[in-house]
Order: sequence, then C-alpha cells, then structure tokens
Amino acid sequence: MPPQHNVKHIKIAIVGAGSVGVTTAYALLLNGLAAEIVLIDIDKNRALGEVMDLSHAAHFAQARVRAGEYEDCAGSAAVIITAGVNQKPGQTRLDLVKTNYALFQDVVPKIAQHAPDTILVVATNPVDVLTHAAHQLSGFPVERVLGSGTAMDTTRFRHELGKYFGVNPRNVHAVIVGEHGDSQLAVWSLATISGMRLKDYCQQKGVEFSEAAMEECSKRTKEAAYEIIRRKGKTNYGVASVLVSILEPIITDADAIMTVSRVGTYGGVEDVALSMPCKLNRHGAHQDVPLLLSKSEQEALRQSALSIKEVLSSLTA
Ligand code: 2OP
Repeated sequence: MPPQHNVKHIKIAIVGAGSVGVTTAYALLLNGLAAEIVLIDIDKNRALGEVMDLSHAAHFAQARVRAGEYEDCAGSAAVIITAGVNQKPGQTRLDLVKTNYALFQDVVPKIAQHAPDTILVVATNPVDVLTHAAHQLSGFPVERVLGSGTAMDTTRFRHELGKYFGVNPRNVHAVIVGEHGDSQLAVWSLATISGMRLKDYCQQKGVEFSEAAMEECSKRTKEAAYEIIRRKGKTNYGVASVLVSILEPIITDADAIMTVSRVGTYGGVEDVALSMPCKLNRHGAHQDVPLLLSKSEQEALRQSALSIKEVLSSLTA
C-alpha cells in the first residue's frame, strides 16, 4: 500500500533481529511508514541474512533495509528494542528480567549516545521493567521512552470481545491497563461498543449480559501469549503489528491514544512504568487525561504497579 504521508526521510532502527525484530521490519516495510529500516544484532551474520531476505521484499515496497551498528541509530525517528531472551513455555515475562536487564545496561547507553533525540520503543520483556530501565539508562525525558505494554493486550481484548459480541473489534472500545503480564486489568467500567456500555448494548439487543463470559474474555486475553508460546514457541505477528501501530502515530504526528507503558506515578506508586492510555505523536507518549477508574479498578492498578515496583527493587538490591 503506498504511504499516505511523506516518509521520505523517516529512518527506523530495530535492535534485535530475532523473530519479533524481523517481523516488525517486515510489517513496517509493507506499511510504507519508513524510507529506511536499520536492523542491528549482535549476530551480524544473522542480521545480514535477514536483511538480504527483507531487501527482496523491499523490492515491492519503497524502503531500504540494511544491517547496521549502533552508530547507525543516528537520525532515527524511533529505535525499537526487541533484543533479549524470550519466554519459554511455562515461564512468565518477569522470569526474563535479570538477563534482559543486563543486556539493556549494554545496549541503551549506546543507542542514546548515537541517537540522543530519538524515541525509544521497548518491546523486550518484561516490558514495563525494561521501559523503566531504558528511561534511567538513556537519560531521555519520560515521553521519549515508551514500552509496547498493554497495547498488545488491548488488541487481544478487543478481538475477544468483538468475537463474543459479533462486532468488528474496531467498534469495541475497551482497554487493558497496568502490567503487560499477569497483574494486568481489564477496565470493564469504561468498556463500550459503539459508545454503548456493554450491559446496555446487551439489553438493547435483547440478549443476557453474562459476567462469566466477560471474565472468560479477559482470561483469554491474559493467557493468550502463554497459549501461543505453548503451541508455537513464540509470539511475533501480533506484537510486530502492534509495534507498527505504535510507530504510525509517532511518525505521522497523529495524536492517537493507545495503551503504552511509560514511567509515571500510578495508583499512588511513584517512579514505575506501566500502561495507561497515552497520546502518541512525534514528540513521544504523553499522559493526557487519566482514566476515571472505579474504586476496585484503582486498587487493581495499584497492585499491578506494586508488583512491577517489587521487581524493580530486586534489580537494584
Ligand atoms: C506477547 O504478549 C510474549 O509479550 C509477548 O505476545
């Protein structure tokens, strides 16, 4: 599809040529959102092989793809970090923290040195902990360091609700906030279909509203990655598409609101990163208006913030 905006000078760097990194490069290529995509990996041979393959796909798009070093991050509109070990069947995202934090200690300062004005988009898990780490290690202002966070879970949630109610997920407005992980929460109090609260929607349709079915939708959302990893060993297409959907409003300065992870104070817990709706534009992720959560949702958000904070504290202990 031809780009609808001028991307002639847009360069995006992707650190990590694993399956999430290369699927993101491929999705970015097909979306026509960048003129140049740089793939950086410690395994240069692998990065070159992926770039060769992607360059042949680039023949049908309008971007240049190349393998690079950290200095090639210079001038990037955004640098996406996908590098790190990923979950094995049975592991939680938080199980990866020590290895991936050590990697970030090496990688983030190098990116910041060569691309001091870029926007960092963290995809490596545990994404909230590493978004916080990337903020500290880069010294960038908070709005220029964001994590893919629950943008993935919100997408999965809308997919589940859309399937259940038989409507296009685009007409479901419902968000997952908090940790991109086990303590995430579905914001039921604000969920709507085309502007109608779920209970009202059911009433108008003459169908019974089922709490149990709703619980099943949020359970399936939370457990989706575990199930995919159990079946195929990794997740890549969903997260790559979500990363491109985060990049799009950044590149096009669109002020789109998405649930992404960002450092802030949540539920009274200071200096922690988790996902809440943020406005995305060429300056990064901005917390616009806080959600009006119910009392129990506020408490669940606080618990989610506390569980991330506990992992952060264990890193510096
Ligand atoms: C996902 O949710 C594993 O965090 C990754 O797809």
